[in-house]
Amino acid sequence: MTKDREAAARALRAQQELLGTCTDCSLCEGRTQVVFGVGSPVADLLFIGEGPGFNEDKLGEPFVGQAGKLLTELLAGIGLAREDVYIANVVKCRPPGNRDPLPVEIEACSPKLMEQIRILRPRVVCTLGRFATRLIAQTDAPITSIRGRAKAAEVAGVPVLILPVFHPAAALYTPANKAVLEEDFQKLRVLLARGQDALGQDGRKQGAVPARPVSQEAATGGALDDGEQLALW
Ligand code: URA
Repeated sequence: MTKDREAAARALRAQQELLGTCTDCSLCEGRTQVVFGVGSPVADLLFIGEGPGFNEDKLGEPFVGQAGKLLTELLAGIGLAREDVYIANVVKCRPPGNRDPLPVEIEACSPKLMEQIRILRPRVVCTLGRFATRLIAQTDAPITSIRGRAKAAEVAGVPVLILPVFHPAAALYTPANKAVLEEDFQKLRVLLARGQDALGQDGRKQGAVPARPVSQEAATGGALDDGEQLALW
């Protein structure tokens, strides 16, 4: 199924308008505005972060602060711009003082994210950090043990490849994590190509993504180290 850009853009606008007055959890009390999401309505690649911070709450757009700058840089490193992808968060309103979102807040907000996924129909979902990974990949595994490893799953009824990576903020505090993020972002290019093989033209899964690791060279023309393989979990 070819994605209908106009229809998807319309559906996202309608959802955004509806959510502008959301009072489904107490985060509405401290927010400046709902930070809905940004990017291409037909993006094949969806990034999901944790929740808006100070800058995002003020500007109404996800990842516009320091972590956002790094995300934009990481994207440029794989030849993509913010406009080529879609960026959203687990919760759409800023937790006070940038604290972690509470389970009750995630529960209230996740149906909105699922609706966005149904509209966007991405092929690849990159979860930024532990909150998005836990929600989307349905796992309690520590992010350190599964980052950079892809998983085929159905999310909100949409067959996707999930790639958990460190949250960009982790590289602001620990610079060594930046190299890890750069390495994992290279895998996104492989997965985008592979998503097209694994999912048919109509966007439905053609059976499981092959359990065998895919040769990086075959998928990327050798952009990654020779012999390195991209494992599924
Ligand atoms: N961190 C997030 O997880 N999301 C944002 O939008 C900004 C920073």
